[in-house]
Amino acid sequence: MTIRPTFLWGASTSAFQIEGAAHLDGRADSIWDVYLRAPGRVSHNDTAETACDHYHRYAADVALMRDLGLNAYRFSVAWPRLLPQGRGAANEAGLAFYDRLIDALLAAEIEPWLCLYHWDLPQALEALGGWQNRDIAGWFADYAALVARRYGDRVKRFATFNEPCVFTLFGYGLGWHAPGIADRAALHKAIHHVNLGHGRAVDVLRRDVAGASIGAIHNRQPCYPASDSAEDAAAALRLAAYWNDAFPFPQAFACYPPELQEAVAPYIAAGDMAQIARPVDWFGLNHYSPHYVKAGSNLMGASFGPPPAEVPRSAIGWPVVPEAFRDTLLDIHSRFRLPIYVLENGTAANDIVDASGSIQDDGRIGYLKAYTTAMEQAIAAGADVRGYFVWSLLDNFEWGAGYSQRFGIVYVDRATQRRIPKASARWYSNMIAAHRASDDPAGRHNRAEE
Ligand code: FCB
Repeated sequence: MTIRPTFLWGASTSAFQIEGAAHLDGRADSIWDVYLRAPGRVSHNDTAETACDHYHRYAADVALMRDLGLNAYRFSVAWPRLLPQGRGAANEAGLAFYDRLIDALLAAEIEPWLCLYHWDLPQALEALGGWQNRDIAGWFADYAALVARRYGDRVKRFATFNEPCVFTLFGYGLGWHAPGIADRAALHKAIHHVNLGHGRAVDVLRRDVAGASIGAIHNRQPCYPASDSAEDAAAALRLAAYWNDAFPFPQAFACYPPELQEAVAPYIAAGDMAQIARPVDWFGLNHYSPHYVKAGSNLMGASFGPPPAEVPRSAIGWPVVPEAFRDTLLDIHSRFRLPIYVLENGTAANDIVDASGSIQDDGRIGYLKAYTTAMEQAIAAGADVRGYFVWSLLDNFEWGAGYSQRFGIVYVDRATQRRIPKASARWYSNMIAAHRASDDPAGRHNRAEE
């Protein structure tokens, strides 16, 4: 067995993608609510006003997780639900929602993993410049303190940011995500201020939560040149600097990758790099597919090309390359020397409810088998991987794709909100149970502890 008894098997979601109740009980607009109001930005002009209605259905969703045998659950807290103006007065109704969720998870023996920021910045802060305003590092630290003091008695696992490379690049560099800005200076300011916010939040979490286990969640994928040309090879290196290294390098090594140094330098003040590089307890990895990079005319001089014809693709066209996952885990292990938690991996599929009312998502099962096998290979080769969280528990609001892409292991009927575990949920549940049985033949399952 390469998988240790304490290995965590979980699922991940995010607040904006599942909660709904977008304007209930005092929650104010996030940048995504505002961004989606402009027509044409998202498939079918979908909104996340209701999403999976998890705000009201959280207890049933936790029961579902318990029935599947999950050890852990990663969710995010909505900043505009706790602090509608982003700072200042806290919203007690919003705070109480996560009390209920956390208590339900603990009662079900599911370890809560709380992520502070999964892209839903309060619009009130965007109006002040959002991640372009250096003051946001302090606003984020204050928000982290509120969360730490309220939930730190029950939650020990804290992530600062989910995929900072994606929300800065897409939101401030390329204009593909909220707040829809495409500007070179905006991107580089945002990168640095997010890094600063990370370091400030790590300090706050250490100070306010006894026994905190803290990390950040990075999307990391190999960037392969799309052709043999020297231009594509250079573009792949540039994209890798933005995508893979712009956050882990400063956070672990107190420096920016050389490709970014000049562009970020104007925003770095004395002491910043030490403030950013606070020690953390683990490396959170989100991984889906490698990038095939072409030279391009955007601000990185690099664009996302199609994969070579021989590379298998998922139902939504994403390349399926489990070896890239194995190699990424080994690369993280050798560079960062931290325990690794895979906090997102999974695939969308064209899921259909059949005549018997079930969803036979064999494509997803094949993907999950291939990727968890690749992870086991990485562990056997020495990578210190301690948990795997599937993306996602539920079909949810998939950003620019709206509800058109189903990533859940549990199907959500959009009209009725009915949840139906797909065949992949049963497969995942059986796999977790099999690991437990082989870990603990006498059936005395102990909750995972590091
Ligand atoms: C990741 C995001 C997550 C979801 C998956 C499919 O980039 O963190 O919210 O959109 O992709």
